[in-house]
Amino acid sequence: MEKTFLMVKPDGVQRHLIGRLVQRFEDRGFELIGAKMFRMTKEQAEYHYAEHKEKPFFGELVDFIISGPVFGMVWQGENVVALSRVMMGKTNPLEATPGTIRGDFAVDKGSNVIHGSDSAQSAEREIANFFRPDELMLQEPPALRVVQ
Ligand code: PPS
Repeated sequence: MEKTFLMVKPDGVQRHLIGRLVQRFEDRGFELIGAKMFRMTKEQAEYHYAEHKEKPFFGELVDFIISGPVFGMVWQGENVVALSRVMMGKTNPLEATPGTIRGDFAVDKGSNVIHGSDSAQSAEREIANFFRPDELMLQEPPALRVVQ
């Protein structure tokens, strides 16, 4: 089953959005198999965002993500990588459709509430950066699907 790493960024934690965001992914039928609140180290942040190292906003991005606690989660489900990105909406809030997380909550391209892995490969790398294997509930039976 596919896994992804989702993270409520410091702005989302500060604005008390954790519960509402978790609810959206539970409602969609995905299974939460790991979660924790933590403060990212600079080394973890630079590794996490390594693909953006050459971008002009890299320093700002790293400083922002280590500026306060984040809520990191590992979710499992069919096509969870692509579907969670659809649910998150576009990075730029000006382009994010209302109804998506960023369309409803994001302020700007930096303070955009949530991060989600962009591929199964990235997810594997990102999960390993923040979670030990024994922190993931890999052996639990699948959650009941919500039928509405
Ligand atoms: S890019 O240039 O298209 O590859 O970048 P993008 O995928 O849109 O964004 C990558 C992550 O960088 C954050 N971002 C920014 N942070 C601060 N300032 C500015 N200007 C900025 N632009 C983009 C954006 O929120 C993405 O973070 P994650 O956590 O990956 O969603």
